[in-house]
Amino acid sequence: MVEHYPIDKVREQFPALQRIEHDHFVAYFDGPGGTQVAGRVIDAMANYMKNGVANLGGTYSTAMETAFIVEEARQHVANLLGAKKENIAFGANMTTLAFRVARALSSEWSHSKGNIVVTEMDHHANIDPWVTAALEKGIEVRYIPFQQETKTLQLEKLDEIISDDTKLVAVGLASNAIGTITDCAKIIQRAKDVGALVIVDAVHAVPHFVVDFEQLGADVLFCSAYKFFGPHVGIVAIEENLFNRMHIFKLRPASDEYPAKLETGTLNFEGLVGVIEAVRFMASIGEGNILREQILSAYEKMERYEHYLAERLRQGLQTIDYVMLHQANDNVKKTPTVSFQVDRLEAKDVCQQLARKYALHLEYGDFYAQTLVEKMGLDRGGLIRAGIAPYNTVEEIDRLIEAVQQIDFP
Ligand SMILES: Cc1ncc(COP(=O)(O)O)c(C=O)c1O
Repeated sequence: MVEHYPIDKVREQFPALQRIEHDHFVAYFDGPGGTQVAGRVIDAMANYMKNGVANLGGTYSTAMETAFIVEEARQHVANLLGAKKENIAFGANMTTLAFRVARALSSEWSHSKGNIVVTEMDHHANIDPWVTAALEKGIEVRYIPFQQETKTLQLEKLDEIISDDTKLVAVGLASNAIGTITDCAKIIQRAKDVGALVIVDAVHAVPHFVVDFEQLGADVLFCSAYKFFGPHVGIVAIEENLFNRMHIFKLRPASDEYPAKLETGTLNFEGLVGVIEAVRFMASIGEGNILREQILSAYEKMERYEHYLAERLRQGLQTIDYVMLHQANDNVKKTPTVSFQVDRLEAKDVCQQLARKYALHLEYGDFYAQTLVEKMGLDRGGLIRAGIAPYNTVEEIDRLIEAVQQIDFP
């Protein structure tokens, strides 16, 4: 199965894979923190800037080209997320967009009435914007607990946690720290039943599996292009009726129309050129007649390949007696993000050794999933995270396993 995946063709498209450190080609396992950037993304961004840039609103060629780019970027992301072009807005990053959306939504909340629900497993970018808004309004914050034994959210008491007066439920599709995929259908259904808004963090999901905004039934969904081979651009999809009535804090001369009304100041146009190319890069791995079909087909291939690599890594690490994997059971779906600790060693020291001797780039810490890592009670600097991307290889996985086998204990 792994033989059918066009790994050489994929790797050719990433200039950064040519980087050599300590006599090895660098193996990038830091994808969950930001993937490498596809060459076509880099070229397109440079070309946009070389060929003449402009702001929106002009009637001359470069201004009209820029306006076209914004629309194309919305259309491409809509295809990626199973949304409509009108749902899509851009910003500096997911965190900034989340604070902005939170401010807009909470401006309609009455003081001290109701509650909001977040989770203990999420990246704090999908916790703190909502908690900050709730605290400002004196509104109760409830948490869907993280269950340490299963490494999943504990959903048994969902009907109590999400109650008739819940205003908003924010949940992540996949954990950027331990890879657990949350089956959000049950949470979203309960939220809908009580009339609460559903906020979905798909930042760690979009690089790894199909996300369908309309099918999910979310009101707001976030992702970030630098996690899927593109530049640093934040993305949000918002359900149209909600978007239309949302009271956004904006400048008076700026557009009152959605989606533009959420886009503060001048957009990162070169970034949007990169977003278009990032989606096209993903689609190019798949087959089909239309963009969405190609994207779905690409996900199928990437997922199969990434899971093969992840399984090989898990099995390899499991044979090392001083390694402790931190992941959900086999029956829980996971992204190919494999987190672990090494007995007696600080996570930072392990990562330093892996980088300095073997050119293996792995990150460590809590990855801003701070509450989760606190609940897990991890010492020694938190998790060591090997995030697998579609450009990683079997050789890199084996190099990582061997490197951990050879780790020095001072
Ligand atoms: C799951 C998840 N959510 C949100 C974020 C925040 O995204 P951004 O860096 O675009 O603000 C990250 C970034 O690591 C993430 O992994």
